[in-house]
Amino acid sequence: MRVGVLTGGGDAPGLNAAIRAVGQAAWREGYEVVGIRNGWLGLLQDDVFLLSPETVADILPRAGTILGTSRTNPFKTAEGARRIQDTLRTRGIDVLVAIGGDDTLGVAAKLGAMGVRVVGIPKTMDNDIPGTDYTIGFDTAVTTVMDACDRLHPTAEAHRRVMVVEVMGRDAGWVAAVGGLAGGADVVLVPEVPFSVDEVCRRLKAQRERGKLFSLVVVAEGSKPKDLATPIAQDAGTDAFGHVRLGGIGPVLAKEIETRTGYETRVTVLGHLQRGGSPTVFDRILATRFGVAAVDLIKRQRFGYMVAFRGNKLTSMTLEEGLTGSHTLDLSLYDLANAFGPS
Ligand code: F6P
Repeated sequence: MRVGVLTGGGDAPGLNAAIRAVGQAAWREGYEVVGIRNGWLGLLQDDVFLLSPETVADILPRAGTILGTSRTNPFKTAEGARRIQDTLRTRGIDVLVAIGGDDTLGVAAKLGAMGVRVVGIPKTMDNDIPGTDYTIGFDTAVTTVMDACDRLHPTAEAHRRVMVVEVMGRDAGWVAAVGGLAGGADVVLVPEVPFSVDEVCRRLKAQRERGKLFSLVVVAEGSKPKDLATPIAQDAGTDAFGHVRLGGIGPVLAKEIETRTGYETRVTVLGHLQRGGSPTVFDRILATRFGVAAVDLIKRQRFGYMVAFRGNKLTSMTLEEGLTGSHTLDLSLYDLANAFGPS
């Protein structure tokens, strides 16, 4: 049995831990493992290499992915899926392990429906895959947001400023709400709940009037201000899956807050820092368990399935089931995140 493994979409801390776990579990079964470079692109370009226990020996604590990644959609061209099947055949790859978010796993599901033997492992720092409570990379990202808030609080207090922190989160506010809650933010803004800048300013003023002279506002990149022109994006282009490049709401919001309240305001855009750093304990263990569970799916011939973590238990489901619906923020967390700041 020859297993191919690839990572697709945005990288997230814990990918290497998952690759290592897939390798180790597969080698224990006597399988061969090949790495596919740069996600689906590697199969389009026949860019694969043999993995060995030595290749993965020291990668557990490293962020990024030793396989490389890309946002390649093979279904963008008529011959993409056929080229992938050709590479799998000529390289003797019997089954694929696709590690990725909804785009990468969506491609895996489509290939699965065409007869390709594939299993999925969910990763995305956004934590927005419907079938699983947690994805690889989320815990490390929110730890980074919490650390940033901890560092920003003292300087905000020293200067009596408003600090706006822009975090990732296109459709789901998990990173903003969990990171902001852990970091003691006063106001948390998420894509699921459109907000009014005037209302944010009113809350910040109320906080000052009660004697707290500095504030921290955490805003997800996909948040929707009702009283500003949206969407706020970096440019008009889209990626292979049709997503615009978000980013920029933080500086816009900071300027509006300063203009409307007169409070000195600064902004920090955390950006790709959230995708770096050594994975946390939670991400290392989640990724390791996912990797081993994916090989178990292969052993049981459960092709077209993905591993998941639900209700504190490892489980699995078809890719189609795992990608149906949405995994947006639990709004009780949003309420809690905003309950400690001004009302
Ligand atoms: O997919 C996760 C994500 O981190 C989003 O939150 C963000 O919008 C996007 O990736 C940015 O990715 P990149 O800059 O790599 O295109």
